[in-house]
Amino acid sequence: MTKRNSKGPRGPKIVAIPPGPKSKAALSRKEKFITNGVRVALPIDVTWAEGPFVRDSDGNVYVDLGGGIGVQTVGHRPRSVIRAAKAQLDRLTHISFMVATYGPVLDLAERMADIAPPGLTKSIFLNSGSEAIENAVKVARAATKKAWLVSFKTAFHGRTLLDISLTGKEKPYREGFGPLVREVLLADYADPYRDPQGRAPADVAKARVEELDRLINQPEVAGRVAAILAEPVQGEGGMIVPPKEFFPLLRRLCDQYGIVLIDDEVQAGAGRTGKMWAIENWSTVPDVLVSGKAIGGGLPFGGVTGKPAVMDAPGPGGLGGTFGGNPVVCAAALEAVDEIEKALPGTKRLEARIRKRLDEMAEGHERIGEARGIGAMWALEFVKDPRTKEPDVDLALAVQTAGLKNGLILLTAGFYNNCIRLLPPINIPIPLMDTALDLLADSLDMAVAGKGR
Ligand SMILES: Cc1ncc(COP(=O)(O)O)c(C=O)c1O
Repeated sequence: MTKRNSKGPRGPKIVAIPPGPKSKAALSRKEKFITNGVRVALPIDVTWAEGPFVRDSDGNVYVDLGGGIGVQTVGHRPRSVIRAAKAQLDRLTHISFMVATYGPVLDLAERMADIAPPGLTKSIFLNSGSEAIENAVKVARAATKKAWLVSFKTAFHGRTLLDISLTGKEKPYREGFGPLVREVLLADYADPYRDPQGRAPADVAKARVEELDRLINQPEVAGRVAAILAEPVQGEGGMIVPPKEFFPLLRRLCDQYGIVLIDDEVQAGAGRTGKMWAIENWSTVPDVLVSGKAIGGGLPFGGVTGKPAVMDAPGPGGLGGTFGGNPVVCAAALEAVDEIEKALPGTKRLEARIRKRLDEMAEGHERIGEARGIGAMWALEFVKDPRTKEPDVDLALAVQTAGLKNGLILLTAGFYNNCIRLLPPINIPIPLMDTALDLLADSLDMAVAGKGR
C-alpha cells in the first residue's frame, strides 16, 4: 500500500455540499477563461490529493474512484515517485532526447523491454496517449508500407485528428472536426452484452472476427491494411471486457494478412486489470503496445513499445518530439512501474470484492443493465429497461452527482454515456473500498429516488 501522510484523511468527509462557494467561484473563472470545448465533469475545484483521497478548495474530502481518468493506479503522489521526480528536477529537466541521450529515458526503455510482452524491446516515449497512438500508427505504416487502419466503433484512442478518426463516437469527439483520415475502417468490438443476437461470448468473438475478415477484404482495402488497433478492455467505451477468444482470433487474422496488431493499453494497461498488461489476460502477444496514463505516475506520458522489425521501420528523424521522454517524467515512471508491480498481487482480492458488490447492486436494480469489469476497472451500465437495453444517460449522471454529495469521485463512460466507471487505485485499502462501495450503493438509491441532482 502507498504510504500516506499520518495526517491524511481516513475516509470521505463533506463539510460543504459540493459545489461549495470556492468551487463555484473556480467554475465561473473556468467559464470566462477556458474554451467551452473542454468540459469539466465535476463541479469541484481540487487543491490536494494523496493516495486514494482528493480534497477540494471548500475542504471536502472525496474517495477518488476516477484516478484522474485512470492515471493514479497506485494512488495520488506515491512517495517514491515524488521523491524521484524531485531529485531529477535538481539534476536535469530538459535537453531533448533528439539532442542528447540521458539516463532516465534509457533506464525506462530498458525497463519497458523487460516488462513488455516477449519480443517487444524497442520504445519511443511521448507526452500523451494520443501522441503515442499517432506514433504507433506511423511505425505500422512505415513497416508495412500500407495505408489502411482498422479500429472499433466503441473504441477511444485519443483526441488528435488521426485518433478521432479511429473512434466511432461522433459526439463529442468528431463532430465539427472533419475531414478525418479516410483510410480507416471501424468494426464492431466483441461486446456480448450488446450483441443483437444475444449469442454466447465465444460465438460473439468468432462472429466479430469473421466480419473483420470480410471488411478488410473489400475491394479498395484488400491487401492494404497496415494495422488493427484494439484496446484489450475498452475503457471510454464502458469497460467492455471482450470474450477470451477475441484477441487470439485477432492475432491470427493479423498473422494471416501481415497486419500489425497495435494493443492500446493506455487505460487498461499498467496493472489496471491485475496483470501488468491487459492483453496478458488474453494470452496474446501484440506487435506494438501503446502505454500512457499510469506509467507516468501522475506526470504526462505516452509510450510505444514494439518488435524491432516494426519499431525500426521509420527513417532516422522520422519520429520524435521536443519533450518526448522528458527526464523528470521518465524518472517518475521508473518508480511508478515499481509501485505498480508491488501492488499487483493485491488486485485479485480487490477484484473479487468489487465484483461481488456490483453484482449484488445489479441484482437489486433492474436499471443496471450490466455490472462488468476486471481487476480494478469496472462499470455499471444503466438502461431504462433491461429488455430493450435503451441507455439511461440521466441515471448515470444522477449517480455521479449523488456520489459527489456522498464523498465519491465517480466518472461516467460508455459509447452511450450511460455507464458509471470505477477506476480505484489498485492498492486502495479493502475497508476503504468497502466504504466506497456502500456509498456507491447509497448514491444509486438516491439517484433512483430522484435525490441525486
Ligand atoms: C485507450 C486510450 N487510448 C488513448 C487515450 C488518449 O490518451 P491521452 O488522453 O493521454 O492523450 C486514452 C485516454 O483516455 C485511452 O483511454
